[in-house]
Order: sequence, then structure tokens, then C-alpha cells
Amino acid sequence: MNYPHQISTLEQYDIAYKTSIESPEAFWDSIARNFSWRKKWEKVLDWNFIEPKIEWFRGGKLNITENCLDRHLLSNANTPALLWESNDPEEHHRVLTYKELHFKVSQFANVLINNGVLKGDRVCIYMGMVPELAIAVLACARIGAVHSVIFGGFSAQSIADRLIDAHATFVITCDGAFRGNKAIALKEVIDDALVACPFVKRTIVLTRTRQPVSMIKGRDVWWEDEIRKVETHGNPECKAVEMDAEDPLFILYTSGSTGKPKGVVHSCAGYMVWANYTFINVFNYHPGEVHFCTADIGWITGHSYIVYGPLSAGGTSLMFEGVPTFPDAGRFWDIVDKFKVNILYTAPTAIRSLMSFGLKPLEGKDLSSLRVLGTVGEPINEEAWHWYSDNIGKGNCPIVDTWWQTETGGVMISNMAGVTPGIPSLATLPLPGILPVLLDENGVEITTQEASGNLCIKKPWPGMLRTTYGDHERCRTNYFVMYPNFYFTGDGATRDMNGNYRITGRVDDVLNVSGHRIGTAEVENAINMHVGVIESAVVGFPHDIKGQGIYAYVIYSEGTHELSLVRQDVLKTVTRLIGAIAKPDVIQFVTGLPKTRSGKIMRRILRKIAEGETQNLGDTSTLLDPTVVDEILKGKEV
Ligand code: WT7
Repeated sequence: MNYPHQISTLEQYDIAYKTSIESPEAFWDSIARNFSWRKKWEKVLDWNFIEPKIEWFRGGKLNITENCLDRHLLSNANTPALLWESNDPEEHHRVLTYKELHFKVSQFANVLINNGVLKGDRVCIYMGMVPELAIAVLACARIGAVHSVIFGGFSAQSIADRLIDAHATFVITCDGAFRGNKAIALKEVIDDALVACPFVKRTIVLTRTRQPVSMIKGRDVWWEDEIRKVETHGNPECKAVEMDAEDPLFILYTSGSTGKPKGVVHSCAGYMVWANYTFINVFNYHPGEVHFCTADIGWITGHSYIVYGPLSAGGTSLMFEGVPTFPDAGRFWDIVDKFKVNILYTAPTAIRSLMSFGLKPLEGKDLSSLRVLGTVGEPINEEAWHWYSDNIGKGNCPIVDTWWQTETGGVMISNMAGVTPGIPSLATLPLPGILPVLLDENGVEITTQEASGNLCIKKPWPGMLRTTYGDHERCRTNYFVMYPNFYFTGDGATRDMNGNYRITGRVDDVLNVSGHRIGTAEVENAINMHVGVIESAVVGFPHDIKGQGIYAYVIYSEGTHELSLVRQDVLKTVTRLIGAIAKPDVIQFVTGLPKTRSGKIMRRILRKIAEGETQNLGDTSTLLDPTVVDEILKGKEV
């Protein structure tokens, strides 16, 4: 056995699952002992889902970076912690051993201290996928600052909204980021965001692309200059700040059914235990193996399975700066071959996109190092599952289909590689500690084995969100009110006679576009900001590559501009206000929207029309004006 809490057989899974549900406190007590603590906890768990209040390992003191770095220095100092592959295949890759990463994190933590960052301060990180991003994240954690990483695809307005919501007073960014054949001007986006955020005291800018940037005296400093300052002061050591188990570790913004993203808050201890436990058990990670998670650290997947999971396990995590299709669609396979990757964890959307290039990009690539494959972010269709299994796994690699969310901190429902069987397009069984239930529309728990309903979780688990930043009431109403005494996931699911779950998708107004979560209300708000737009309604529709596409119905006032131009302008407005990831795939101009007499938009009808349905639109008799439906059908482009 590699880790004391690693499950290796089906029997062990059954026992662990049973114990975790019957005696959760004893179960997690024995697992938490495998970490390094400054002070042991007094109580494993205290909770209610009414407030909600969730406390794990109360009274425990620790620092997650001592678990991710310091404790590996004794026996694993020269083990690679991070491997980094550039966007440019010609640029030399980088290797950071545990010793080197510990040194760099300590050094940058000292930079943060020198710049006045204190425990509890919120630090926004907006960087490309360079090792310094992981270093910045860990340096914050080292001194107890709360990091909030923002994905590099979000616009200045989105960043400003998040900076204001978190009242973040420090920003860490890059001059630019390489992505495929583009160099994205990150600092410029930050500059635009900061116009609305005068409370930001300091911006630390890492050199990556060395494109021209403005550097404002008194506010902006270069990463490299700041490093030099701490170097000349001699001691690179930075003792980790002692954190309470329940202190916040980070905030990560995610979309919900309202127009405003919420800041999901994760704790220091519970999150650490969960990220580590799920990493070791879902992927069946063995020390020495190379784990390649293709996500961006701007999403929860990158937090948990590039940074905290692998590093807390003393593992080797591979970080990739580029995109799957640059310089060609063989990029992932080149990387697997070059670094002898053992575990590949990616999104169905990436698999579907690579499938469309055929098998040519695989030629001459040695993928024999692969042992485990994983998917995350959206349901995987059977065709993609088989392509992944046959052509990448060569029929020898288990595929773990991992269902979880930003709010859950780590994987919740998934098969465990080599331990519990995988089934194409099913997430399968809950991990130990997870008690999923299906509820019907009246909120009643469905107790029959075979069932279909809304997916809720009945008991707390260590990695669950603690609150939404600055607004606990929002956390309560979002997740704990619809079904009292349950955590509501927002997903629908079915369960088969063997207890396997299939996630069928969101049942709320949240879209999943290329594995990215986007609220329809958010997109509507952005569209409605455009001059001349009177009203809009946004729904999802099935998309071959992205999983879901964005379909917008827009009522536009008569104007002098041609509609084809207005369409481009609307897209520009959405890109400005949210980011390119939220751009609708289809914009249909309409004269009215199907509404009930009370004024509610009947999205069900709009969804059906977007899906291409023309006949069975369901009951339209409650509509205020049923003729709008015919109008919309007539105007639909086919
Ligand atoms: C939503 C969460 C989990 C990290 C990445 C996305 C969907 C996630 C699966 C899966 C079917 C999935 C759900 C969930 N989802 N994984 N294996 N099968 N659906 O995190 O942005 O918080 O989105 O992604 O709808 O609620 P997120």
C-alpha cells in the first residue's frame, strides 16, 4: 500500500464506504492523522444544513503548504513536484523538485509580506499557466492570505466585479499569456479592471511575454524586482503561518442562476483532506507517477488536481501552458510521450474536439506509459468514452468519470481506477463519505433503487464549501433552501439497480459550455446592456463539441443598423462584460418572447425550439400570446 488511506480493492471500498457513512467522525479522524498538524483537532465534525454551519477538525491548527511542501523535504526533496511544458514546443520545459518549489514558494511568500500582504487579505491572481501561478497560489496559502484565482479568459468587467465582491487589495498577474498562436495582454485587462478598483494597493507583474505594459508608480511592481529585494535580504525561509482548520483557504467565483457569480469559500483543513483523499483514491495514484491534469488553475479542477491534491500526496504534477490543438492536434500525445505521463485527466469537450481530427495526430506517439484516464466537467457521451478508451488507453486504462463541482472541492461520484468498475457515460458510485440522494419535485427522497430525480447530498463531507464570500445568506438560499436539510447540487441524475449514478445535467438555469459553467441570467444581463436591446432570453442547446451551446433570443428595437452588424455588436458587448467564453453561438432576433400571464418567460419552449423541435412544444395554452411561438419558429435559421 502506498498511502495509509488508499483503497486498493472493491472489498476495501465497500468497508470504507460503510464505515464512512455509519461512523463519519471515526472514519475522518483516522484519515486526518495522515497529515501534518501544528495542533490536533478537538472535534472532527459539527454541522447543520439549516444555517448552514459546517466545521471539520475544529480546533486543529495547520498550514496546507507544510503538507504540500515541507513534509516532503525529508525523503522526497529531489522528487519533481511540478513539471511544466510551455505553449511553445521549442521552449525548454521546466522541472521544479520539492526542494526547489519549497524555496520558490518561500521566497515569493516573503515578497508578499514585503508588499504588505497580511493573513486574511484577499489576493486576486490573474495569470497564464506558468509555474509562477502555482507558486503564487501556494505563497498566499503559506502566509494565510486568501487567494482568488480568476481564469485568464474573463474580461476586465468580470475581474472588477470579483475584486469588489472580495474586496481584494492585491493582484498578481503577468504582462501577458501565451495561448496557441496568441499572446493575451493580461496586464492590460487588469489595468482596465483597476479603473473601477482604487482600493487595490499593489499589483505584482510577472514577465512572460514581455509585451509592452503600463506600470504605474506606487501601485505596480515587477515580480522579478521584488524577488531580487528578498534575495539580497538573505534568508529565503518563510515560516508558514499557523491557520485554524476552518480559516478560509481560497475563494473561487462560479456562476449560478442569478446574474452575479458567487465566491465559493473553501476551508484550510477540510479542503486539504478531501483534495488529497480523492486524488489518491480516484486516480489510484502511486508515488513517482506523472499526473497530467489539463485544466487551467483558474478552475477548481486545477486547484484540486494540479496543485493541492498531487502536492499534498508528494506526487508529480504536470502543468501545461498551451491548448490541445497548437501547434497541432497531437499536442497532448506529444506531452504524454515526452514526460511518460501515467495519468491523464481532461474534459469531454477536449476529447470530442481531438476526435474530430481523426487518428493521424496519434501516429508515432508512444502512449504506453498511460495507466489511468479521467474526465471531468460534463457528461461524457459513449462515443467519446470509447474513442478515449480505445485510442488513448489502448483498451488497457480504466477511465474515471468524475462528477463534482466548484462547491464540492473534490470528486464526489466516480469510479476508482482499478478498484471499482467504470461504465461508459456513468459517474457510477459515491466516494466514501458521500451520501447522495435523489429527490422528486416535491422534495421527497426517492427510496427505490432505480430512480431519477434531483441530486442532493445528505451529509457533510470535508471538502464542501463553507459559505459564499461576504454573503452567507446567499449560500443558504442557493444550496440549502430548496430541499431543507440537504445540499442541492443543481444537477439531475438517475440511479440504476446497482446504485450507479448517471448525471443527466443541470436542472437550474446554468449552462455547461465546454465544461465551463455559465449562468443564463448572467448572459442575459450582458446582452440587455447593449444599446437597443429590449429584452433577451438565453437557453442551452446540444452542441457536438462543446456539449452545450448558448442560444440567445433577443428583442431589439428598430434601428438604423443592419441586424447582421447588431449581432456582432451584441457579441462584442458580451465579450466585454463577461468574456469570450460566454459568447452566444446563436442569436435570433425576435419580436416577442413566450410569456405566461404572470410575465414569466417559458424557457421550456425556447429550449425546445433551440434544440430544433418544431412540433411538440408542449402546452402553450397558458401563454399570454401564443402567436409569438409561431413567429419565433418562422424566424429560426435552419
Ligand atoms: C457542474 C459543475 C468539477 C470540476 C469542473 C466543473 C457538471 C461536472 C461532471 C461529470 C456530468 C458533470 C455538473 C456540475 N459536471 N462533472 N463527470 N458528469 N456532469 O466544475 O464549473 O463547478 O461545474 O459540472 O453539471 O454541477 P463546475
